[in-house]
Amino acid sequence: MSAPLAGRTVSRMGYGAMRLERLHSDPGAAVALLRRAFELGVDHVDTAQFYGNGFVNGVIRDALRAGDDFLVVSKVGANPDPGGPRPIRLAQRPEELRASVEDNLRELGLDRVPVVNLRRADRGPGLIAEGDQVVDLDDQLAVLTAMRDEGKIGMIGLSHVTLDVLRRAVPAGIACVQNAYSLVTRDDEDVLELCVAENIAWVPFFPLGGAFPALPKVTDEPAVRAAAQALGRTPAQIGLAWLLHHSPNVHLIPGTASAAHLEANIAAGEIAFDDETLAALDAVPSRSMNVAL
Ligand SMILES: NC(=O)c1ccc[n+]([C@@H]2O[C@H](COP(=O)([O-])OP(=O)(O)OC[C@H]3O[C@@H](n4cnc5c(N)ncnc54)[C@H](OP(=O)(O)O)[C@@H]3O)[C@@H](O)[C@H]2O)c1
Repeated sequence: MSAPLAGRTVSRMGYGAMRLERLHSDPGAAVALLRRAFELGVDHVDTAQFYGNGFVNGVIRDALRAGDDFLVVSKVGANPDPGGPRPIRLAQRPEELRASVEDNLRELGLDRVPVVNLRRADRGPGLIAEGDQVVDLDDQLAVLTAMRDEGKIGMIGLSHVTLDVLRRAVPAGIACVQNAYSLVTRDDEDVLELCVAENIAWVPFFPLGGAFPALPKVTDEPAVRAAAQALGRTPAQIGLAWLLHHSPNVHLIPGTASAAHLEANIAAGEIAFDDETLAALDAVPSRSMNVAL
């Protein structure tokens, strides 16, 4: 169950570390959960300095041991904002992107962040750029490619991108794209198809519909629940397995703070669908992710 990502071959079942924020009061439990993911074969972790205001990056630093070879993927384009109305604020300007990569290097304890995703802000879900946070893509790619040349970034990825932005960015060398996408929210099929054509990994965030109540949930979908019952699996496992079947360039980063959910998510990689079940899941209509979070 491995596939190429950022010039390496990694397990297609990665781990989205955002949910580790919930273990803020028990960093030891957060480190143990991440070590459990590694024991189960996960070797791709998605993070950001703004997850828990550096807490999650600190957990990753503490969980990694000498000789470990994990693909750590972080993102820039927003910063922690602990006193603000939301826990993060946009930080799209080139000098902010550079400072954010430096913050990640320091907090992760790495000389190079293997992959840095540029989290754009011209579409939802989440924060949309206004004023001086509206920054041209070329100016952002210029600073990230400079940091790649300096060796501080291994490869560049993108997040929250439209088809047009991805097309413009491809010549810079893009390793992966992280957009909101799941079995019930598939508006970005065209972006996924361009990724397939350009050998870019597709790493959907909110693969189960995320934790925000306003977002459509994969596990509420009747076709998903029917498949789960027929196969003796959970609805979450069916939603993850469908993503893996949908396209060979999909890498998953489901987020959880629960060891039981972590184990169930990893086991979803074994699920096979017959043609009828796959057709029923493929026929689920896509719903919009553009809701206020
Ligand atoms: N690029 C970006 O801008 C961006 C934005 C958001 C997220 N991300 C990344 O994407 C990752 C995934 O997104 P996400 O964590 O928000 O959403 P998600 O993976 O769609 O859903 C997480 C939610 O599902 C629950 N869950 C996980 N596994 C489950 C299972 N087996 N059964 C039942 N419930 C389960 C989690 O709760 P429990 O903790 O209780 O399991 C949590 O409430 C994040 O961790 C983060 O690394 C990136």
